[in-house]
Amino acid sequence: MSMSITNSLSANRGIFTADENAMIDKLLGCGQDHLFSSWPAPGTDDDDKRRFLAQAAVCDAGYPGGIAQYVANAKKLLQDSKEGVNPFDGWTPAVPDGIVVEYASKEHVELESEGMREVGSAAFVLVAGGLGERLGYSGIKVELPCERSTDSCYLQLYIQSILALQQRSAGEMPAHRSAKDVGIPLAIMTSDDTHAKTLDLLERNDYFGAKKEQVTLVKQEKVPCLTNNDAHLALKDADPYALQTKPHGHGDVHALLHTSGLLDRWSAAGKKWVVFFQDTNSLVFRVVPGALGVSKQKGFVFNSLCVPRKAKEAIGAITELTHTDGRKMTVNVEYNQLDPLLRATINKDGDVNNDKGVSPFPGNINQLIVSLEEYKTQLAKTGGQIEEFVNPKYKDASKTAFKSPTRLECMMQDYPKSLDASACVGFTVFDNWVGYSPVKNSPADGVGKFEGGNPTHTATSGEMEFYGCAAKVLELAGAEMAAPVDFSANDIVVPSGPKVVLHPSFACTFEELKGKAGKGLKVTSASSALIVEGAGVKIESLELDGALVIKACPGAFVTVKNLKVSNKGWRFEKCGADAPEIDRLRGFVIEKDETEELVFDQPGAYTVP
Ligand code: UTP
Repeated sequence: MSMSITNSLSANRGIFTADENAMIDKLLGCGQDHLFSSWPAPGTDDDDKRRFLAQAAVCDAGYPGGIAQYVANAKKLLQDSKEGVNPFDGWTPAVPDGIVVEYASKEHVELESEGMREVGSAAFVLVAGGLGERLGYSGIKVELPCERSTDSCYLQLYIQSILALQQRSAGEMPAHRSAKDVGIPLAIMTSDDTHAKTLDLLERNDYFGAKKEQVTLVKQEKVPCLTNNDAHLALKDADPYALQTKPHGHGDVHALLHTSGLLDRWSAAGKKWVVFFQDTNSLVFRVVPGALGVSKQKGFVFNSLCVPRKAKEAIGAITELTHTDGRKMTVNVEYNQLDPLLRATINKDGDVNNDKGVSPFPGNINQLIVSLEEYKTQLAKTGGQIEEFVNPKYKDASKTAFKSPTRLECMMQDYPKSLDASACVGFTVFDNWVGYSPVKNSPADGVGKFEGGNPTHTATSGEMEFYGCAAKVLELAGAEMAAPVDFSANDIVVPSGPKVVLHPSFACTFEELKGKAGKGLKVTSASSALIVEGAGVKIESLELDGALVIKACPGAFVTVKNLKVSNKGWRFEKCGADAPEIDRLRGFVIEKDETEELVFDQPGAYTVP
């Protein structure tokens, strides 16, 4: 520490509390003297100095082991990065143990019934702290409608799906349920970028029917940025009393679940599983019961939901790694690391397809199921710290200066890296159409992906895939559905069949759905729309060419028999650049010309017509 800093700081020491002085000592102790080098004598900017120390204290408390640990980790990772250390040196990959499930197969139906026996013992965790820079929406992603037919937003879909599972599992809830038990809990990880808007969305909508105590928000803190290989913390250009900070990544969720006490609470309430999912995947609840069945059947302490992966696709691969020293782990390998790893070890051609036309390694979609007891025990050991990485953009080959301050990041799928080799880690593969349809990309980026022959993951594809999945599930249950036609919006082309929305209340599993709709249902035009809400709806025979909405309140049992509906229906029309933001993101609006509505808002038994 230089003399002048000591002097200027010692002069200031008297104006601070013991805690503030302790924070200064912590920063000096990890080589951050530069932060104080321009501090004026006491009497000038004193409130700003306190503001700085308060912010440092938030960063300190928000990171396992505090700022000193963060700086130590950063120095090590920056050193490794400078020296070009290969994180996979000594590791050889192999395809791990897992299950490929064909939706609607006999095996899937059995897994779903196993999963439904477990779901009352599950807690759900939505990670929703991301900025969504690629999508470029001005609000939070979970408030976006997943489709415009009913305008249900992602958070609404998720909560109603959880409530539907809860209703089915009422008889399967842990035996020692107390009056205080809130049912199936949902924790949402937010960040400064999303917290207030998420809370507001919930409050404005009465928690979408959940009990307020059922939903817990935990907020992740950002981490300080680093200016050089010595891990010096960066100050803001415009404010020398503020640290520059950036998001640390979704891996924070593990430490937060641990420190918030949620895991203990869930465990005390008899919960056994924690299911993680992301802000915009409208299909995830179609595959949760089956995947939970896999976790139970195979005894997986960690189960990654996957889709078939095409070689070189920009999606992480689940890989079993064995080290020359005998260590073993089953982990996600990012796609840009997979190819060099394979070339260096088992396949000189790198990341290529097998004879079935897919990569032998399944593609991780980051919906994860962990077994609570093992998870809780493990986090108590590690504090939830997840292996981090750093990705500095260097100014030149000397790798000494960065183009802009960098920071450490961590990913939730890296949790298994901390597990013993004996831990039972596996995966469950479902096809894309039924399990994965994220909305991550702006219309402009979507065009690039479309032209490259890749999934666009835009609001346009997200909406059409949501309808398409429901239509296909009905088809598998025996329905006749008009074939999809090409639909173009925002300069991409997507398949567009009947616009089917099956509200979460209608059915949770394939078997339940098949008991309520399938054979006897005929949708004769791709432009038709069918919206079904309510657990009591049963479609025995229906022919539809147009738009039909069937809504039954709880306790209303509605049998649709020999019904024929034909009307002008709905049009999906392109919208212009002057349309509201939500419409512009998908590139179309719905003109509802004519709709047959069958609404039953009183309990009772009904037959239509
Ligand atoms: P994404 O990969 O979609 O990243 O995150 P993002 O930050 O939201 O979007 P871009 O990269 O800026 O376009 C996957 C999931 O992880 C959550 C997101 O909200 C999303 O559900 N996430 C991401 C967090 O909760 N915290 C983070 O720090 C980052």
